[in-house]
Amino acid sequence: FKKKGYHKQTWINKMINKAIILAGGMGTRMSPLTKAVNKQLLPIYDKPLIFYPLSILMLAKIKDILIIVNKGQLNQYKKLLPDGKNLGININYKEQNYPKGLPDAFLLGERFINKNNVALILGDNFFYGQSLSATLKNCINIKNGAKVILHKVSKPELFGVAKIKNKNKILSIKEKPKKFFSDLAITGLYFFDKNVVKYSKELKPSKRGELEITDLLNKYRKKNKLSAEFIGRGGAWLDTGSIEDFYNTSAFVSNIEKRQGLKIACLEEIAFNNKWIGKKDILNSIKFYGNCEYSNYLKKVIL
Ligand code: TTP
Repeated sequence: FKKKGYHKQTWINKMINKAIILAGGMGTRMSPLTKAVNKQLLPIYDKPLIFYPLSILMLAKIKDILIIVNKGQLNQYKKLLPDGKNLGININYKEQNYPKGLPDAFLLGERFINKNNVALILGDNFFYGQSLSATLKNCINIKNGAKVILHKVSKPELFGVAKIKNKNKILSIKEKPKKFFSDLAITGLYFFDKNVVKYSKELKPSKRGELEITDLLNKYRKKNKLSAEFIGRGGAWLDTGSIEDFYNTSAFVSNIEKRQGLKIACLEEIAFNNKWIGKKDILNSIKFYGNCEYSNYLKKVIL
């Protein structure tokens, strides 16, 4: 009984209630697929990519969400995810004129953040695994500083990687190191204290003309305020940046869903389990999606 009470409290006292999904970008590596449709609206197996990062935020019990999209693509997104009411959450949108870099999320989101702590997830990142909920719980309790999620990869030269000390303090970070430095990749899910807006304003564009997340993380690291959580070997983090990655991730989702008969990233199911919506809302969603396999699954959720 004691344990249960503690569990409840950790969620109630959480320090992070707001999150941004960065869902713009050029999607150059996936052209021509991304010429007319934004990458995050393309399918990973049976649902649009954006469902997956959104589901992670909902699993972290974050209800206040800002989605940043490319200029001109707002209407497409709103057709799919209007305002979040159907999921018991609050979705706001903001347009980005062009991809200025990941920390631009905090400049565009300044009013939304409004001096609160905030999480950021990249719209094309896919997370899956048993320990994920526990990891998320640790992340949303940060009071100050910043936290990143690390995952071991076999090709560290393709990622931003981090060296750690004392289990979870970050010692140094390198972007795509040519020589081996660490095999712990920094994934696209970050947690920041309220200083993130101030620090982002201090950043200067890099040689490639973008504000760099590494520079932002380094500001926290230099103050000894950057720590890490891990997705262990039982979990998966897949980047969906290239066409190959996209189809591999689709195959991963398809395999797991078929084997288990459970869906990954069914938003209504997560909202229902969180008690944010009821049966009536799910029936409305079924009407909204129409006669499809996703709706058939929703019918089973409320059986
Ligand atoms: P990237 O992988 O850097 O860019 P991209 O997705 O446009 O792909 P490509 O390199 O093939 O052109 O971006 C990671 C995620 O962040 C992706 O979901 C797009 C999003 N993003 C923005 O929304 N705005 C930005 O300014 C940047 C840099 C990325």
